[in-house]
Amino acid sequence: MSSLAPSDAAAVDTVPAPTKPKKVRVHHLAQAKQQGRKLTMLTAYDALIAPLLDAAGVDMLLVGDSYGNVMLGYDSTLRVTLDDMVRATSAVARSTRRALVVADLPFATYEASAQQAFESASQLMRAGAHAVKLEGGRPRVEAVRLLSQSGIPVVGHLGYTPQSENTIGGPRMRGRGDQRDAMIADALALQDAGAIAVVLEMVPDNVAIDVTAALEIPTIGIGAGPHTDGQVLVWSDMVGMQEWVPSFVHRFAQIGREITAAAAEYVESVEDGTFPAPENYHQQ
Ligand code: KIV
Repeated sequence: MSSLAPSDAAAVDTVPAPTKPKKVRVHHLAQAKQQGRKLTMLTAYDALIAPLLDAAGVDMLLVGDSYGNVMLGYDSTLRVTLDDMVRATSAVARSTRRALVVADLPFATYEASAQQAFESASQLMRAGAHAVKLEGGRPRVEAVRLLSQSGIPVVGHLGYTPQSENTIGGPRMRGRGDQRDAMIADALALQDAGAIAVVLEMVPDNVAIDVTAALEIPTIGIGAGPHTDGQVLVWSDMVGMQEWVPSFVHRFAQIGREITAAAAEYVESVEDGTFPAPENYHQQ
């Protein structure tokens, strides 16, 4: 007969559940992969939304260059400047307590040389980023190595890379056929150069599985199926700010409709004189 009480026996059999860090730092990403804990990343671009997402326990806030599409009304990320990204990054960094803040290097601020990448990335780090993200594989190795050796953690981005939309031919799945081996080679090259994670965008799930298995650093998927080490979504897609979202997005709320309904009620209340009500102002 066992001398252990039932609760002790359960403790011996149970593998401790992976714990979420109080403050997310770079080493926690590889640790999460080793522990099998899924990582979460959402975009954020300002001091209004970032603290709400941070309070929800998101591991990483990405100041993505999707800022251009989501907040500035551009139809492409190519128009986003380094100044745009510095301003957005400092707003997010100022209002975030727990999450690791990752900032995108925008188009034409890092591709020319490793030195150019260092000068641009250092502006984002001075704005409060904890890491930067850049698009591309083997052609970026020199830049990733210099940044990593200079105290600037780098997240890679493979698959559909929106800054290359004109050479790729618009949003499309990447990694099918011959592209599979090239993507694994790109991911390994980024890891060897010091990258801390790799985003996989619009990649078939079986290719995402292979890339994930080949790497020690985590993969963060968007439109890449459920088997990556983590997931990323654009925050406004995730809460349903707009009526259209890509098919790989799940809307966890319908906030856009709520805002329109609230604004319509406000308009009606002002027009019919029920707002402001007596409790909304001081009467002499
Ligand atoms: O800018 C962005 O939002 C991104 C994500 C799609 C990964 O790069």
